[in-house]
Amino acid sequence: MSEELYSDRSGHSCVVFRDLVQGEGVQSNQFLLFDSEHAAVIDPGGELTYNRLFMALSNYTKVRNLDYVIASHQDPDIVASLNKWLVGTDAKIVVPALWERFIPHYTRPGKTEGRVIAIPDQGAILNLGKLQLKALPAHFLHAEGNFQFYDPISKILFSGDMGANLCPRTDLDEPIKSISEIMPYMEGFHQRYMNSNKICRYWVNMVRTLDIEMMVPQHGRAFVGKKVVAESSWTGLRTFSVALICSHRRTTKHLKRTKKTVESRISRRQRKYGISTVIARERGY
Ligand SMILES: [Fe+2]
Ligand SMILES: [Fe+2]
Repeated sequence: MSEELYSDRSGHSCVVFRDLVQGEGVQSNQFLLFDSEHAAVIDPGGELTYNRLFMALSNYTKVRNLDYVIASHQDPDIVASLNKWLVGTDAKIVVPALWERFIPHYTRPGKTEGRVIAIPDQGAILNLGKLQLKALPAHFLHAEGNFQFYDPISKILFSGDMGANLCPRTDLDEPIKSISEIMPYMEGFHQRYMNSNKICRYWVNMVRTLDIEMMVPQHGRAFVGKKVVAESSWTGLRTFSVALICSHRRTTKHLKRTKKTVESRISRRQRKYGISTVIARERGY
């Protein structure tokens, strides 16, 4: 089901699609930005969503004429359908510069020639009708080259995997009312995928300067209202920071303990694989 997150009389709107993934794939949200007859899709996903998203988009715009297909980072749930978008539309593909040489692996040789806009590390502004969409650097959250997108008209932050909450599918349309309510669905994901507490703090410092009415992650429910956004991102992120630090300490302790155990048991045969492989095996990775 699609939901219009924002719409005004000037012809600006933002739409989210939350239920297009079928099968075993992780639930993910796709977004349409529309302004003055110009349109862009953010994080369209892969094969699991392409057909259904294409159909859903055609209720709002002529899909062939999309201006941009925007990828916040390189993951399969973000842009594995790249080849189909290149063939099915005349859109420019907007990707972090870091992934510019990797993304063509999703398609055939020569297909991306003249079709890619690479966002430099420091960010950029994308013009879409009268909208100046800000590509904000959010590197290492979780990909090494990663952008979030801020729409200053709707005041929506499209936060990608930051704030992702793997909630029950039946709750997807419910706005998040408090950090405590959503934390159980966020914590595990962030502790594993957002691997730097320092970077989380940089992110908090960056986004708290923006006027945000809604923060919409690529997975799960939306944070609606200034108060909830502030509580969830600034305060919540600080909680996460603590959680991440704890998790980091736990991991370091565990690694030390594991290393001791492993070292005490290390055999000649194990030595030839190297300590990190042995630890990895011990931890079941
Ligand atoms: Fe991702
Ligand atoms: Fe994701």
